Amino acid sequence: MKPNLSLAVVILAAGKGTRLKSKRPKVLHEIGGKPLLAHVIAAASRVVAPEHIYVVVGHQAERVRAAVASTGVQFVEQTEQRGTGHAIQCARQVVAGYPSLLVLSGDVPLIHAETIERMSRFHQAEHAAMTILTARPEDPTGYGRIVRRAPVSPEAASPEVEAIVEQKSLAPGQEKIGEINSGIYAFLSAPLFAHLHELAASNAHGELYLTDMAGILRAAGERVVAIKAENAAEVLGANTIAELVALDATMRAATAQRLMAAGVTIFRPETCVIDAEVEVAPDTVIEPFVQLRGKTRVGSDCLIRSYTVIENCALGTDVLVRQGCVLADSTVADGARIGPFAHLRPGSEIGESVHVGNFVETKQARLGKGAKANHLAYLGDAEIGEGANVGAGVITCNYDGVHKHRTRIGKGVFVGSDSTLVAPITLEDGAYVGAGSCITKDVPAGALAVGRARQITKPGWATARRARREAKDPSP
Ligand code: UD1
Ligand code: CA
Repeated sequence: MKPNLSLAVVILAAGKGTRLKSKRPKVLHEIGGKPLLAHVIAAASRVVAPEHIYVVVGHQAERVRAAVASTGVQFVEQTEQRGTGHAIQCARQVVAGYPSLLVLSGDVPLIHAETIERMSRFHQAEHAAMTILTARPEDPTGYGRIVRRAPVSPEAASPEVEAIVEQKSLAPGQEKIGEINSGIYAFLSAPLFAHLHELAASNAHGELYLTDMAGILRAAGERVVAIKAENAAEVLGANTIAELVALDATMRAATAQRLMAAGVTIFRPETCVIDAEVEVAPDTVIEPFVQLRGKTRVGSDCLIRSYTVIENCALGTDVLVRQGCVLADSTVADGARIGPFAHLRPGSEIGESVHVGNFVETKQARLGKGAKANHLAYLGDAEIGEGANVGAGVITCNYDGVHKHRTRIGKGVFVGSDSTLVAPITLEDGAYVGAGSCITKDVPAGALAVGRARQITKPGWATARRARREAKDPSP
């Protein structure tokens, strides 16, 4: 879609979100792993360039700005939140130069760019002063309702609107109206700004409602029309935690559908949490209760077993992640086997065909091709060469209480079980470390290092002791 320079988008995001009962501003609550506002900005950015997107901020303005500043949008301050109409009054100065405006709501996050474009084209074709995007959801309760203008003849359905009536102002009979206001509009700037001052706070909340512009513009002889969204789910808002969670489920279901359509098997997708930007290649199987978060990418022919959580990781092809693993900010190469119950912390680089088994924790660790750490190990700030074998219970002592130090384990090294490697330390290629060693000095290539107390064996000692005890106290 080409940017249209005669058009600005205004996103209303200054409200507190009182009904969420949360310290966090409403538009920063997340669905699909991203703040509501970020979703709306993403859709708007496909219609106009970010420098033509104006986000109205107010409640915790700095926090909201900081959360989306990287998108390159502009900000407008509404220091006192006196309603959606007042928000547009605050934006007036900066957007008055644009002939047309699209207004989006920061808490209506599932909107698609295509639907915004469709509304915008309809607005132009209808030569309207105001166009309202509407929908017929299953339950219209809580939304503003659309009072359509009676058609001239019963056959000629009119797109024209008489007014928008907020839930609290519905007259008897109007609560049956099934068509709702999505809070998304197109305006011609000239008539909007000519009449914007006519908004009055004579309503239940004492606010200036942008919705009143429909009636005001109609009364001024301007054309006000409505276009219905094809899919009502796209324009649902989030005023309560329950609504927010429902939108999250809708968004994640759509992501799962997208992946399944592309050849990924997701068993019980309703139990999985998959963020919108996750990519998975065909023939990969995802078991129930898996979470794939952030910018995670998974190659083809992988199996991700239940209760695994993967965040911002890149997995190659034919990777097996067994049950209950936690992987963050790491890479896993083709054919690797992880888990069950493994923990890859940030900066882990798991090489081709590597095995990382149960209760193994890695951090800033690079494991070369075919290396194995199958049981109960901690590998932090470490390089582990190709084909090395790290025994059960091996620990890299990487921290001296002040600084972190590196452990270098060469190719084909064998580290016996329950050894501690006190970093900085190097075990050169092909070295052996005897089980139970505490290694504090570098081990040359091909050498054996054993660093443990010698065993003392006293023949007959236990038998003699038992005999002495029984002589003192013969009772069984
Ligand atoms: C609004 C509409 C309602 C519509 C619904 C759709 C009005 C009066 N009502 O109701 O007809 O059906 O959206 O979801 O507009 N905001 C500001 N400044 C303010 C007040 C609000 O920027 O002073 C922002 C909020 O942050 C929010 C958006 O405007 O993102 C909508 O406000 P909200 O209070 O959620 O309006 P609704 O009651 O949902
Ligand atoms: Ca709302």
